[in-house]
Amino acid sequence: MRNVKTFDAPARFSRWQIRLHWLTLLLIAIAYGAIEAKSFVPKGSAARDLIMLLHFNAGALVGALMLVRLGLRLRRPDPAIVPAPPRWQAAAARIGHRVLYATFVALPVLGALALAYGGKQWSLLGLPVHDLVAPDRATGRTLKEIHETWAEAGYFIVGLHAAAALFHHYVQRDSTLEGMLPRA
Ligand code: HEM
Ligand code: HEM
Repeated sequence: MRNVKTFDAPARFSRWQIRLHWLTLLLIAIAYGAIEAKSFVPKGSAARDLIMLLHFNAGALVGALMLVRLGLRLRRPDPAIVPAPPRWQAAAARIGHRVLYATFVALPVLGALALAYGGKQWSLLGLPVHDLVAPDRATGRTLKEIHETWAEAGYFIVGLHAAAALFHHYVQRDSTLEGMLPRA
């Protein structure tokens, strides 16, 4: 992934990068919110099915948007941060972004495969998704466990990323956050 700081580096991320960044955050909040709400709703109820469907659909859209974002990111140099942060912070940000991309592409894939191996059907934006693979319950259970453990780590990964953004803004007082905010 490029993280080029050249003289012609833009001052902020592109309009679409910014829109998709905040839309992804919203969809991730919906995916996490739905799964947390699940435990308050009785098993087997229509409301519970709806909550799970919301989780699957919001999560799948996150995966698709992350791929679009990756495509956009690779086509354009990253904005220059002013004043430039120390090199270790630039390196940490590069690693952090890779971890974010890996996490939010892998989670939807693992979730969808867990359902497929579990022999479970669901619908993506109203279209049925089934028979992706030959069902195998044991594989399905393993994938579900990996999905769940990684998803729990996801809270921490996002929290760290958001905290870093706020640290740059309020403590280092550089342009990191402004580069990802819509133009006033
Ligand atoms: C942004 C993407 C996603 C995130 C952040 C996410 C997060 C989570 C979390 C936090 C859990 C519960 C973990 C626990 O109980 O310990 C979970 C469970 C689950 N997720 Fe996802 N998920 C995402 C996408 C998906 C997708 C796209 C699917 C399927 C199409 C999916 C299928 C599942 C399934 C089947 C479970 C287990 C539910 C149960 O039986 O309790 N997830 N996910
Ligand atoms: C309140 C939550 C969040 C805040 C305050 C925030 C803030 C920021 C800021 C200021 C940047 C630009 C500076 C930088 O290069 O790091 C950024 C970039 C980025 N953020 Fe966030 N973010 C949040 C949530 C998320 C979430 C949930 C994801 C999950 C996918 C995410 C993924 C990324 C990625 C991958 C970048 C690198 C630029 C790109 O490739 O689009 N952020 N974020």
